[in-house]
Amino acid sequence: MNQTGKFLSLFCISFFLTAFLDDFPEDENKILVLQNCVLCHSESLVSQQEMKREEWDTTLLWMENKHKLKFESKETRKKILDYLTSYFGPKKEAEYPFLMGRRPVNPLPF
Ligand code: HEC
Repeated sequence: MNQTGKFLSLFCISFFLTAFLDDFPEDENKILVLQNCVLCHSESLVSQQEMKREEWDTTLLWMENKHKLKFESKETRKKILDYLTSYFGPKKEAEYPFLMGRRPVNPLPF
């Protein structure tokens, strides 16, 4: 295989790999979140949040009022809210990957 062929196959492989790697856990409502939320921003902007249900609700309102996001129906909105709350809710202390607990606040004055 020549240089271009190698480059092209590498490109295709990485393209397919990234296409299947996303931050959203599989669920029947996942597709709704993908359809509604990644049009304007990256999925990581959504998946890196850790919010309570009310906070997600406010975020959806914000997207609706400020960015003119329209949901197909009330039902869709509720399903998206359910999805976001169950997978991107606030983490419990034990879920943080630091064995020693949270990193202490820097005590130095700089
Ligand atoms: C029409 C475009 C649009 C759609 C659709 C949209 N958003 Fe956004 N979203 C934005 C923009 C623009 C920002 C950047 C913040 C701003 O300027 O208000 C943003 C920011 C965010 C943020 C970051 C808020 C922060 O604290 O910085 C979250 C979380 C978010 N969106 C969630 C969602 C979710 C969940 C959905 C799907 C239900 C969604 N968005 C759909 C336009 C959109």
